[in-house]
Amino acid sequence: MCLPMGETRMLASRRILLVIGGGIAAYKSLEIIRRLRERSVEIIPVLTSAGAEFVTPLSVSALAGNQVHRDLFDLTMEAEMGHIALGRSADLILVAPATANLMARMATGQADDLATTILLATCAKVVLAPAMNVRMWENPATRRNVATLKSEGIAFVGPNDGDMACGEFGPGRMAEPAEIVAAVENMFSRGPLTGKKALVTSGPTHEPIDPVRYIANRSSGMQGNAIARALKALGAEVVLVSGPVDVASPEGVRVVRVQTAREMMDAVHSALPADVAVFAAAVADWRVKNVYGGKIKKTGKGLPKIEFEENPDILATVGRMKSGRPELVIGFAAETDDIAGNAASKRLRKGCDWVVANDVSPETGIMGGTENAVTLVTENGVDTWDRMSKNEVAVRLADLVARELS
Ligand code: CTP
Repeated sequence: MCLPMGETRMLASRRILLVIGGGIAAYKSLEIIRRLRERSVEIIPVLTSAGAEFVTPLSVSALAGNQVHRDLFDLTMEAEMGHIALGRSADLILVAPATANLMARMATGQADDLATTILLATCAKVVLAPAMNVRMWENPATRRNVATLKSEGIAFVGPNDGDMACGEFGPGRMAEPAEIVAAVENMFSRGPLTGKKALVTSGPTHEPIDPVRYIANRSSGMQGNAIARALKALGAEVVLVSGPVDVASPEGVRVVRVQTAREMMDAVHSALPADVAVFAAAVADWRVKNVYGGKIKKTGKGLPKIEFEENPDILATVGRMKSGRPELVIGFAAETDDIAGNAASKRLRKGCDWVVANDVSPETGIMGGTENAVTLVTENGVDTWDRMSKNEVAVRLADLVARELS
Protein backbone atom coordinates (compact mmCIF):
# COMPACT_ATOMS: atom_id res chain seq x y z
CA MET A 1 0.00 0.00 0.00
CA CYS A 2 1.34 3.45 -0.85
CA LEU A 3 0.82 5.92 1.93
CA PRO A 4 -0.08 9.47 0.99
CA MET A 5 2.73 11.90 1.79
CA GLY A 6 2.49 14.22 4.70
CA GLU A 7 -0.04 12.37 6.82
CA THR A 8 1.91 13.31 9.89
CA ARG A 9 4.82 15.57 10.75
CA MET A 10 6.76 12.54 11.90
CA LEU A 11 9.52 10.89 9.99
CA ALA A 12 9.83 8.26 12.73
CA SER A 13 8.64 4.73 11.82
CA ARG A 14 8.60 5.50 8.11
CA ARG A 15 10.05 2.97 5.68
CA ILE A 16 12.49 4.49 3.24
CA LEU A 17 13.89 2.43 0.41
CA LEU A 18 17.37 3.75 -0.28
CA VAL A 19 18.82 3.01 -3.71
CA ILE A 20 22.59 3.44 -3.70
CA GLY A 21 23.86 4.08 -7.22
CA GLY A 22 27.45 3.82 -8.44
CA GLY A 23 29.49 6.92 -7.79
CA ILE A 24 32.19 8.17 -5.52
CA ALA A 25 29.48 9.96 -3.49
CA ALA A 26 28.10 6.54 -2.48
CA TYR A 27 30.14 6.78 0.71
CA LYS A 28 27.83 9.60 1.82
CA SER A 29 24.88 7.20 1.65
CA LEU A 30 26.26 5.51 4.78
CA GLU A 31 25.93 8.81 6.65
CA ILE A 32 22.40 9.24 5.27
CA ILE A 33 21.47 5.80 6.64
CA ARG A 34 22.94 6.70 10.02
CA ARG A 35 21.07 10.01 10.24
CA LEU A 36 17.77 8.50 9.11
CA ARG A 37 18.07 5.65 11.59
CA GLU A 38 18.72 8.18 14.36
CA ARG A 39 15.26 9.48 13.44
CA SER A 40 13.84 5.92 13.82
CA VAL A 41 13.37 5.45 10.10
CA GLU A 42 13.41 1.89 8.76
CA ILE A 43 15.84 1.63 5.85
CA ILE A 44 15.44 -0.91 3.06
CA PRO A 45 18.75 -0.70 1.21
CA VAL A 46 19.06 -1.53 -2.47
CA LEU A 47 22.59 -1.54 -3.82
CA THR A 48 23.10 -1.41 -7.60
CA SER A 49 25.99 -3.42 -9.00
CA ALA A 50 27.85 -0.15 -9.72
CA GLY A 51 27.07 1.04 -6.18
CA ALA A 52 28.66 -2.12 -4.79
CA GLU A 53 31.93 -1.01 -6.40
CA PHE A 54 32.01 1.93 -3.97
CA VAL A 55 30.45 0.67 -0.73
CA THR A 56 30.28 -2.87 0.55
CA PRO A 57 26.96 -4.67 1.13
CA LEU A 58 28.23 -5.53 4.59
CA SER A 59 28.68 -1.92 5.71
CA VAL A 60 25.32 -0.94 4.20
CA SER A 61 23.41 -3.76 5.88
CA ALA A 62 25.23 -3.29 9.19
CA LEU A 63 24.32 0.40 9.33
CA ALA A 64 20.81 -0.10 7.95
CA GLY A 65 20.13 -3.02 10.29
CA ASN A 66 18.43 -4.68 7.33
CA GLN A 67 19.26 -7.03 4.51
CA VAL A 68 20.70 -5.40 1.38
CA HIS A 69 18.74 -6.16 -1.80
CA ARG A 70 20.86 -6.50 -4.89
CA ASP A 71 19.63 -8.85 -7.60
CA LEU A 72 16.47 -8.79 -9.62
CA PHE A 73 16.19 -12.56 -9.72
CA ASP A 74 16.74 -13.37 -6.12
CA LEU A 75 14.38 -16.32 -5.81
CA THR A 76 14.09 -16.20 -2.04
CA MET A 77 13.15 -12.58 -2.23
CA GLU A 78 10.71 -13.16 -5.08
CA ALA A 79 9.02 -15.91 -3.07
CA GLU A 80 8.84 -13.85 0.12
CA MET A 81 8.14 -10.38 -1.14
CA GLY A 82 8.95 -9.63 -4.76
CA HIS A 83 10.45 -6.52 -6.23
CA ILE A 84 7.06 -4.91 -6.80
CA ALA A 85 6.03 -5.35 -3.20
CA LEU A 86 9.45 -4.13 -2.10
CA GLY A 87 8.95 -0.80 -3.86
CA ARG A 88 5.36 -0.52 -2.74
CA SER A 89 6.05 -1.21 0.90
CA ALA A 90 8.14 1.95 1.11
CA ASP A 91 6.75 5.33 2.12
CA LEU A 92 9.43 6.98 0.02
CA ILE A 93 12.24 5.95 -2.31
CA LEU A 94 15.47 7.89 -2.04
CA VAL A 95 18.14 7.44 -4.71
CA ALA A 96 21.52 8.64 -3.45
CA PRO A 97 23.71 8.95 -5.37
CA ALA A 98 21.57 9.13 -8.49
CA THR A 99 23.97 8.76 -11.39
CA ALA A 100 23.46 10.13 -14.91
CA ASN A 101 23.00 6.58 -16.13
CA LEU A 102 20.40 5.69 -13.49
CA MET A 103 18.44 8.87 -14.26
CA ALA A 104 18.59 8.17 -18.01
CA ARG A 105 17.23 4.67 -17.44
CA MET A 106 14.47 6.02 -15.20
CA ALA A 107 13.56 8.73 -17.72
CA THR A 108 13.15 6.13 -20.47
CA GLY A 109 11.26 3.65 -18.29
CA GLN A 110 13.85 0.90 -18.32
CA ALA A 111 13.71 -1.92 -15.82
CA ASP A 112 16.88 -3.88 -16.36
CA ASP A 113 17.98 -4.31 -12.75
CA LEU A 114 16.41 -4.38 -9.31
CA ALA A 115 16.69 -0.62 -8.69
CA THR A 116 15.13 0.49 -11.99
CA THR A 117 12.43 -2.21 -11.72
CA ILE A 118 11.45 -1.01 -8.27
CA LEU A 119 11.46 2.61 -9.46
CA LEU A 120 9.24 1.73 -12.42
CA ALA A 121 6.80 -0.26 -10.30
CA THR A 122 6.50 2.04 -7.31
CA CYS A 123 3.76 4.49 -6.52
CA ALA A 124 5.72 5.98 -3.61
CA LYS A 125 7.22 9.45 -3.81
CA VAL A 126 10.72 9.32 -5.31
CA VAL A 127 13.56 11.69 -4.39
CA LEU A 128 16.81 11.80 -6.32
CA ALA A 129 20.13 13.14 -5.05
CA PRO A 130 22.16 13.39 -8.26
CA ALA A 131 25.93 13.12 -8.26
CA MET A 132 28.07 13.27 -11.35
CA ASN A 133 30.75 15.17 -13.19
CA VAL A 134 29.77 18.78 -13.98
CA ARG A 135 29.87 18.18 -17.74
CA MET A 136 27.64 15.13 -17.44
CA TRP A 137 25.18 17.19 -15.36
CA GLU A 138 25.20 19.98 -17.94
CA ASN A 139 25.00 17.69 -20.95
CA PRO A 140 21.76 18.29 -22.92
CA ALA A 141 20.84 14.61 -22.56
CA THR A 142 20.98 14.86 -18.75
CA ARG A 143 19.11 18.19 -18.83
CA ARG A 144 16.34 16.49 -20.84
CA ASN A 145 16.22 13.53 -18.46
CA VAL A 146 16.05 15.81 -15.42
CA ALA A 147 13.23 17.82 -17.04
CA THR A 148 11.31 14.61 -17.82
CA LEU A 149 11.71 13.25 -14.31
CA LYS A 150 10.73 16.58 -12.74
CA SER A 151 7.65 16.79 -14.94
CA GLU A 152 6.66 13.35 -13.63
CA GLY A 153 6.74 14.64 -10.06
CA ILE A 154 10.08 13.19 -9.06
CA ALA A 155 11.76 15.40 -6.48
CA PHE A 156 15.41 16.44 -6.55
CA VAL A 157 17.76 17.50 -3.80
CA GLY A 158 20.96 19.01 -5.13
CA PRO A 159 23.30 18.65 -6.83
CA ASN A 160 25.41 21.38 -5.28
CA ASP A 161 28.23 23.41 -6.69
CA GLY A 162 31.66 22.48 -5.45
CA ASP A 163 35.00 20.80 -6.00
CA MET A 164 34.49 17.38 -7.47
CA ALA A 165 36.42 14.16 -7.03
CA CYS A 166 37.42 14.41 -10.73
CA GLY A 167 39.19 17.73 -10.04
CA GLU A 168 36.59 19.96 -11.73
CA PHE A 169 34.36 22.57 -10.11
CA GLY A 170 30.67 23.23 -10.67
CA PRO A 171 27.22 21.69 -10.19
CA GLY A 172 27.23 17.91 -9.90
CA ARG A 173 28.37 17.30 -6.36
CA MET A 174 25.86 15.30 -4.32
CA ALA A 175 23.99 17.32 -1.67
CA GLU A 176 25.31 16.83 1.84
CA PRO A 177 23.65 14.09 3.97
CA ALA A 178 22.16 16.73 6.33
CA GLU A 179 20.55 18.48 3.37
CA ILE A 180 19.18 15.24 1.96
CA VAL A 181 17.77 14.18 5.33
CA ALA A 182 16.20 17.64 5.79
CA ALA A 183 14.59 17.39 2.35
CA VAL A 184 13.21 13.95 3.21
CA GLU A 185 11.98 15.23 6.57
CA ASN A 186 10.31 18.11 4.79
CA MET A 187 8.40 15.67 2.59
CA PHE A 188 6.74 14.13 5.61
CA SER A 189 5.99 17.38 7.31
CA ARG A 190 2.59 18.76 6.69
CA GLY A 191 2.54 22.51 6.52
CA PRO A 192 0.13 24.74 4.64
CA LEU A 193 2.64 24.95 1.78
CA THR A 194 3.30 21.20 1.50
CA GLY A 195 3.34 20.27 -2.17
CA LYS A 196 3.98 23.88 -3.24
CA LYS A 197 7.15 25.05 -4.93
CA ALA A 198 8.72 28.37 -4.02
CA LEU A 199 11.48 30.32 -5.72
CA VAL A 200 13.34 33.08 -3.87
CA THR A 201 16.05 35.39 -5.20
CA SER A 202 18.37 36.97 -2.70
CA GLY A 203 21.54 38.98 -2.14
CA PRO A 204 23.33 41.39 -4.43
CA THR A 205 24.73 40.71 -7.87
CA HIS A 206 28.34 41.40 -8.79
CA GLU A 207 28.92 42.87 -12.22
CA PRO A 208 32.55 42.69 -13.34
CA ILE A 209 34.50 45.75 -14.50
CA ASP A 210 37.79 43.94 -14.99
CA PRO A 211 39.21 40.71 -13.55
CA VAL A 212 39.64 42.27 -10.07
CA ARG A 213 36.89 44.89 -9.79
CA TYR A 214 33.12 44.69 -9.82
CA ILE A 215 29.99 46.73 -9.18
CA ALA A 216 28.05 45.56 -6.12
CA ASN A 217 25.60 46.84 -3.50
CA ARG A 218 25.11 46.51 0.25
CA SER A 219 22.52 43.72 0.21
CA SER A 220 23.44 41.03 2.76
CA GLY A 221 21.01 38.35 1.56
CA MET A 222 19.59 38.12 5.08
CA GLN A 223 15.99 38.94 4.16
CA GLY A 224 15.89 36.57 1.18
CA ASN A 225 17.46 33.75 3.19
CA ALA A 226 14.94 34.27 5.99
CA ILE A 227 12.07 34.15 3.50
CA ALA A 228 13.39 30.91 1.97
CA ARG A 229 13.67 29.41 5.47
CA ALA A 230 10.16 30.55 6.46
CA LEU A 231 8.57 29.15 3.29
CA LYS A 232 10.40 25.86 3.82
CA ALA A 233 9.21 25.74 7.42
CA LEU A 234 5.62 25.84 6.13
CA GLY A 235 6.32 22.81 3.96
CA ALA A 236 7.23 24.38 0.61
CA GLU A 237 9.95 22.97 -1.59
CA VAL A 238 12.22 25.98 -1.95
CA VAL A 239 14.91 26.98 -4.45
CA LEU A 240 16.98 29.96 -3.35
CA VAL A 241 18.89 31.73 -6.13
CA SER A 242 21.49 33.78 -4.32
CA GLY A 243 24.09 36.30 -5.34
CA PRO A 244 27.38 36.42 -3.39
CA VAL A 245 26.57 36.56 0.35
CA ASP A 246 28.20 35.62 3.63
CA VAL A 247 25.06 34.40 5.40
CA ALA A 248 24.65 30.65 5.95
CA SER A 249 22.30 28.84 3.58
CA PRO A 250 18.99 27.73 5.10
CA GLU A 251 18.78 23.96 5.73
CA GLY A 252 16.73 21.85 3.39
CA VAL A 253 16.57 24.54 0.73
CA ARG A 254 18.21 24.08 -2.65
CA VAL A 255 20.63 26.96 -3.12
CA VAL A 256 21.84 28.04 -6.55
CA ARG A 257 24.73 30.49 -6.33
CA VAL A 258 25.24 33.12 -9.00
CA GLN A 259 27.37 36.23 -9.47
CA THR A 260 25.75 38.39 -12.13
CA ALA A 261 22.21 39.46 -13.00
CA ARG A 262 22.31 37.44 -16.19
CA GLU A 263 23.34 34.31 -14.28
CA MET A 264 20.50 35.01 -11.83
CA MET A 265 18.05 35.27 -14.74
CA ASP A 266 19.21 31.90 -16.13
CA ALA A 267 19.01 30.24 -12.70
CA VAL A 268 15.48 31.59 -12.20
CA HIS A 269 14.40 30.20 -15.57
CA SER A 270 15.84 26.78 -14.69
CA ALA A 271 14.12 26.76 -11.29
CA LEU A 272 10.65 27.42 -12.72
CA PRO A 273 7.86 26.31 -12.56
CA ALA A 274 6.99 27.49 -9.07
CA ASP A 275 3.76 28.33 -7.27
CA VAL A 276 5.23 31.41 -5.63
CA ALA A 277 8.27 33.47 -6.55
CA VAL A 278 9.74 36.08 -4.21
CA PHE A 279 12.30 38.46 -5.71
CA ALA A 280 14.23 39.78 -2.74
CA ALA A 281 17.55 40.17 -4.59
CA ALA A 282 19.11 43.59 -5.05
CA VAL A 283 19.92 43.05 -8.71
CA ALA A 284 22.30 45.49 -10.37
CA ASP A 285 20.35 47.51 -12.91
CA TRP A 286 23.36 47.92 -15.17
CA ARG A 287 26.41 45.92 -16.11
CA VAL A 288 29.64 47.06 -17.71
CA LYS A 289 29.46 46.75 -21.48
CA ASN A 290 33.19 46.94 -22.08
CA VAL A 291 34.46 44.56 -19.37
CA TYR A 292 38.25 44.80 -19.46
CA GLY A 293 40.07 41.53 -20.11
CA GLY A 294 43.04 42.64 -17.98
CA LYS A 295 43.29 44.81 -14.86
CA ILE A 296 42.70 48.49 -15.68
CA LYS A 297 45.95 50.37 -15.04
CA LYS A 298 46.55 54.02 -14.13
CA THR A 299 48.04 55.27 -17.37
CA GLY A 300 48.30 58.97 -16.45
CA LYS A 301 46.26 59.71 -19.59
CA GLY A 302 42.89 60.24 -17.96
CA LEU A 303 40.24 58.06 -16.38
CA PRO A 304 39.12 54.72 -17.79
CA LYS A 305 36.03 54.87 -19.98
CA ILE A 306 33.41 52.54 -18.56
CA GLU A 307 30.25 52.04 -20.58
CA PHE A 308 27.08 50.54 -19.14
CA GLU A 309 24.24 48.49 -20.51
CA GLU A 310 21.01 47.45 -18.88
CA ASN A 311 20.60 44.11 -17.14
CA PRO A 312 17.49 42.00 -17.67
CA ASP A 313 14.74 42.79 -15.18
CA ILE A 314 14.17 39.35 -13.69
CA LEU A 315 11.07 40.24 -11.72
CA ALA A 316 9.42 41.98 -14.68
CA THR A 317 10.28 39.08 -17.00
CA VAL A 318 8.64 36.54 -14.67
CA GLY A 319 5.78 38.88 -13.69
CA ARG A 320 4.79 39.25 -17.33
CA MET A 321 5.20 35.62 -18.40
CA LYS A 322 2.33 34.56 -20.63
CA SER A 323 2.52 30.92 -19.64
CA GLY A 324 4.08 29.23 -16.64
CA ARG A 325 3.89 32.38 -14.50
CA PRO A 326 3.91 31.52 -10.79
CA GLU A 327 0.49 31.99 -9.22
CA LEU A 328 1.93 34.54 -6.82
CA VAL A 329 4.78 36.86 -7.85
CA ILE A 330 6.21 39.06 -5.10
CA GLY A 331 8.69 41.84 -5.77
CA PHE A 332 10.70 44.00 -3.40
CA ALA A 333 11.14 47.74 -3.73
CA ALA A 334 14.15 49.45 -2.28
CA GLU A 335 13.11 53.09 -1.96
CA THR A 336 14.39 56.21 -0.29
CA ASP A 337 11.29 58.40 -0.70
CA ASP A 338 7.53 58.11 -1.33
CA ILE A 339 7.82 54.44 -0.38
CA ALA A 340 4.17 53.43 -0.93
CA GLY A 341 3.73 55.53 -4.09
CA ASN A 342 6.89 54.21 -5.77
CA ALA A 343 6.09 50.65 -4.70
CA ALA A 344 2.56 50.87 -6.11
CA SER A 345 3.81 52.01 -9.51
CA LYS A 346 6.59 49.38 -9.44
CA ARG A 347 3.92 46.70 -8.80
CA LEU A 348 2.06 47.63 -11.96
CA ARG A 349 5.19 48.27 -14.04
CA LYS A 350 6.71 44.88 -13.23
CA GLY A 351 3.51 42.82 -13.39
CA CYS A 352 3.82 41.47 -9.86
CA ASP A 353 1.03 40.73 -7.39
CA TRP A 354 2.58 42.12 -4.23
CA VAL A 355 5.44 44.49 -3.53
CA VAL A 356 7.32 44.43 -0.25
CA ALA A 357 8.68 47.95 -0.05
CA ASN A 358 11.40 49.02 2.33
CA ASP A 359 13.04 52.30 3.12
CA VAL A 360 16.72 51.91 2.35
CA SER A 361 17.76 55.45 3.32
CA PRO A 362 21.13 55.08 5.08
CA GLU A 363 19.75 56.34 8.43
CA THR A 364 17.30 53.38 8.61
CA GLY A 365 20.19 50.87 8.70
CA ILE A 366 17.95 48.38 6.87
CA MET A 367 20.24 47.49 4.00
CA GLY A 368 22.80 45.15 5.53
CA GLY A 369 21.09 45.31 8.97
CA THR A 370 19.04 42.70 10.83
CA GLU A 371 15.74 44.63 10.92
CA ASN A 372 13.26 45.74 8.31
CA ALA A 373 10.39 48.20 8.14
CA VAL A 374 8.04 46.96 5.48
CA THR A 375 5.15 48.41 3.54
CA LEU A 376 3.20 45.71 1.71
CA VAL A 377 1.47 46.90 -1.44
CA THR A 378 -1.14 44.64 -3.04
CA GLU A 379 -4.10 45.25 -5.30
CA ASN A 380 -6.13 45.68 -2.11
CA GLY A 381 -4.05 48.58 -0.85
CA VAL A 382 -1.16 49.43 1.40
CA ASP A 383 -0.28 47.83 4.73
CA THR A 384 2.54 49.32 6.79
CA TRP A 385 4.15 46.91 9.24
CA ASP A 386 5.96 47.86 12.44
CA ARG A 387 9.73 47.70 12.33
CA MET A 388 10.71 44.10 13.16
CA SER A 389 13.51 41.59 12.61
CA LYS A 390 14.03 40.29 9.10
CA ASN A 391 13.13 36.82 10.40
CA GLU A 392 9.79 38.11 11.69
CA VAL A 393 9.11 39.84 8.36
CA ALA A 394 9.85 36.53 6.62
CA VAL A 395 7.53 34.51 8.87
CA ARG A 396 4.71 37.03 8.44
CA LEU A 397 5.16 37.12 4.67
CA ALA A 398 5.28 33.29 4.45
CA ASP A 399 2.00 33.11 6.43
CA LEU A 400 0.37 35.50 3.97
CA VAL A 401 1.70 33.45 1.05
CA ALA A 402 0.25 30.27 2.60
CA ARG A 403 -3.13 31.96 3.02
CA GLU A 404 -3.08 33.25 -0.55
CA LEU A 405 -2.17 29.85 -2.07
CA SER A 406 -4.55 27.74 0.03
N1 CTP B 1 14.74 43.32 -9.92
C1 CTP B 1 15.00 42.27 -10.77
N2 CTP B 1 15.88 42.45 -11.80
C2 CTP B 1 16.49 43.63 -11.98
C3 CTP B 1 16.23 44.72 -11.09
C4 CTP B 1 15.36 44.51 -10.05
O1 CTP B 1 14.44 41.20 -10.60
N3 CTP B 1 17.34 43.78 -12.99
C5 CTP B 1 13.75 43.12 -8.85
C6 CTP B 1 14.28 43.14 -7.44
O2 CTP B 1 14.64 41.83 -7.01
C7 CTP B 1 13.10 43.68 -6.67
C8 CTP B 1 12.40 44.59 -7.65
O3 CTP B 1 12.86 44.19 -8.93
O4 CTP B 1 12.17 42.65 -6.37
C9 CTP B 1 12.64 46.06 -7.48
O5 CTP B 1 13.98 46.35 -7.34
P1 CTP B 1 14.43 47.86 -7.12
O6 CTP B 1 15.91 47.90 -7.09
O7 CTP B 1 13.66 48.45 -6.00
O8 CTP B 1 13.84 48.53 -8.39
P2 CTP B 1 14.42 48.84 -9.77
O9 CTP B 1 13.77 48.01 -10.79
O10 CTP B 1 15.91 48.73 -9.74
O11 CTP B 1 13.95 50.32 -9.97
P3 CTP B 1 14.58 51.69 -9.41
O12 CTP B 1 16.03 51.43 -9.19
O13 CTP B 1 14.31 52.64 -10.49
O14 CTP B 1 13.84 52.00 -8.16
